Amino acid sequence: MHCPTFLSVLILCGFALSNQTYPFPNRGNSWNSSTPSQPDAVRNGKRAVGFFGDWNIYGRNFTAADIPVKQLTHVIYAFANINNVTGEVTLGDPWADVEKPFDGNDAQGNDTNLEGSIKQLYLLKQQNRHLKTLLSVGGWTYSPNISPILHNETCRATFASSAVKLMYNLGFDGLDYDYEYINSTEQAAQFVDLLAKTRTLLDAYRNVTSPFLLTFDAPAGPDHYELLDVKGMDQYLDFWTFMAFDYTGAFTTPPYAGHAQNLYGSNDTLATPFNTSSGIEYYIAQGATASKLHLGNPLYGHAFQNTHGPGTPFNGTGNGSFGDAGGNWDYDLLPLTRNASIHEDEELGLSWSYDGDTKTMVSYDTPKIARRKARYVMEKGLGGVSWWQIAGDKKGAESLVGATVDCFGELETSRNHLEYPDSPYSIFKDHVPGKEW
Ligand SMILES: *[C@@H]1O[C@H](CO)[C@@H](O)[C@H](O)[C@H]1NC(C)=O
Ligand SMILES: *[C@@H]1O[C@H](CO)[C@@H](O)[C@H](O)[C@H]1NC(C)=O
Ligand SMILES: *[C@@H]1O[C@H](CO)[C@@H](O)[C@H](O)[C@H]1NC(C)=O
Ligand SMILES: *[C@@H]1O[C@H](CO)[C@@H](O)[C@H](O)[C@H]1NC(C)=O
Ligand SMILES: *[C@@H]1O[C@H](CO)[C@@H](O)[C@H](O)[C@H]1NC(C)=O
Ligand SMILES: *[C@@H]1O[C@H](CO)[C@@H](O)[C@H](O)[C@H]1NC(C)=O
Ligand SMILES: *[C@@H]1O[C@H](CO)[C@@H](O)[C@H](O)[C@H]1NC(C)=O
Ligand SMILES: *[C@@H]1O[C@H](CO)[C@@H](O)[C@H](O)[C@H]1NC(C)=O
Ligand SMILES: *[C@@H]1O[C@H](CO)[C@@H](O)[C@H](O)[C@H]1NC(C)=O
Ligand SMILES: *[C@@H]1O[C@H](CO)[C@@H](O)[C@H](O)[C@H]1NC(C)=O
Ligand SMILES: *[C@@H]1O[C@H](CO)[C@@H](O)[C@H](O)[C@H]1NC(C)=O
Ligand SMILES: *[C@@H]1O[C@H](CO)[C@@H](O)[C@H](O)[C@H]1NC(C)=O
Repeated sequence: MHCPTFLSVLILCGFALSNQTYPFPNRGNSWNSSTPSQPDAVRNGKRAVGFFGDWNIYGRNFTAADIPVKQLTHVIYAFANINNVTGEVTLGDPWADVEKPFDGNDAQGNDTNLEGSIKQLYLLKQQNRHLKTLLSVGGWTYSPNISPILHNETCRATFASSAVKLMYNLGFDGLDYDYEYINSTEQAAQFVDLLAKTRTLLDAYRNVTSPFLLTFDAPAGPDHYELLDVKGMDQYLDFWTFMAFDYTGAFTTPPYAGHAQNLYGSNDTLATPFNTSSGIEYYIAQGATASKLHLGNPLYGHAFQNTHGPGTPFNGTGNGSFGDAGGNWDYDLLPLTRNASIHEDEELGLSWSYDGDTKTMVSYDTPKIARRKARYVMEKGLGGVSWWQIAGDKKGAESLVGATVDCFGELETSRNHLEYPDSPYSIFKDHVPGKEW
């Protein structure tokens, strides 16, 4: 891993030398003091979190082995599903998750033999003790299954207990909840209760060296976040991923091409209908712990066709490289054309490409803007960055993950869990106890 010196971090990230705000002390996980906690020495540094969708092994041909583990502190594995009658949390794609043999073994018909991407993640944890993994529940696809059960306390208890059990049995270090979106103050209170129930069950594992983690993917739109009980949630969370993306896209009406992930807003509200900083400020003002907040940065862009650029009308987006919405392109495929010019506005924290021949604009982050956002994280004392999703990154000098963690310098190094003696899977039985610390 590239370890820049203090001075080069300042220069790389554009700090004036008078602003010696790096490195920020990271207060880390603000555990209830009665719960077991880790030595402060290993909690310094920012968190760098990569989302990994279980479908990446298909179309993108991106497997757990492709994860840039040295640059990440956590991997969040997406998504587990929810039974919309009972609240039980189950695997989203059992074949990809625990069955597909990656190393020659064949788990079919053998329930005790863990395979799939989740085994691959565990093998990565053994080799990289700083790498923590979380199981994400919900997401855009499965959130509609949360809506009908959230009001029911029995279902919430089932949700919490089955999620914790699944997390433990599969060798994860915690849970991530992605419910899009809480739609009322009633649901906000119910969600706090779901977090409380989950936290209690996670903390029951007092026989582990550090508590299991609980995180939440937080909406960036005021219509959504103003409904949340931010303070109520914060006490149970280790970190929040503020989903700082999708501000514009194929869905934007009226159809004006604009920026999808800008740090700040401009006076041209057609070009910047939303902004990240006001959302971050809102969460902090409402009681979110700043050092728990992450910028959720996209490793993809939004395309607009038949447009003159930001703040002007568009007509169509094209299909893009993933998703049904249209116009979504993985970052490693951008810019789309060699003739496209790249525009970067460090003041507003945004960048885009524009090709006058194809009349196509794409809103996406360049390495310079990734560094700008890393600097924002450091200036505000936030906890780090979470990327949706790591499969979309470029390799080498153009990597946005690389640009960001170079700015952070020091990353959090707390150790992962390896011991799961009560899991039914035989892989954990092979682990020699006592090696956890
Ligand atoms: C950085 O330093 C400049 C010049 O000294 C000052 O104007 C600015 O407010 C400082 N920024 C921070 C975040 O401290
Ligand atoms: C912290 O733990 C104590 C003792 O278990 C408990 O009484 C208290 O309610 C907990 N506080 C929070 C915020 O969970
Ligand atoms: C997928 O990636 C692996 C290793 O990176 C490579 O060997 C294989 O040929 C790729 N498969 C396809 C279909 O691209
Ligand atoms: C629950 O899921 C099933 C299967 O996907 C669906 O048919 C049903 O409408 C859902 N029920 C509710 C209340 O959303
Ligand atoms: C809550 O869910 C449980 C389990 O599905 C069900 O038996 C019960 O009737 C539900 N209660 C309400 C009030 O919907
Ligand atoms: C299942 O896997 C375990 C562990 O690899 C092995 O000991 C056992 O023989 C397997 N059982 C069957 C029926 O293949
Ligand atoms: C929120 O979602 C629940 C569950 O789907 C629904 O019953 C309720 O009417 C919704 N509330 C609002 C304000 O949309
Ligand atoms: C660890 O704690 C969990 C939760 O209380 C319990 O189910 C499990 O049996 C314990 N394991 C050991 C080895 O003590
Ligand atoms: C940033 O977003 C907030 C919330 O939507 C909005 O009130 C504010 O005007 C925006 N700021 C700018 C400069 O556009
Ligand atoms: C918007 O801001 C730019 C740059 O700060 C300024 O030149 C322009 O006059 C402003 N436009 C309006 C309508 O306020
Ligand atoms: C958008 O493009 C479609 C065909 O590509 C065309 O039929 C339609 O008139 C266009 N709409 C506008 C507002 O230009
Ligand atoms: C784009 O998607 C539409 C609808 O799924 C499909 O009919 C069309 O062939 C696609 N175009 C390209 C270029 O892939």
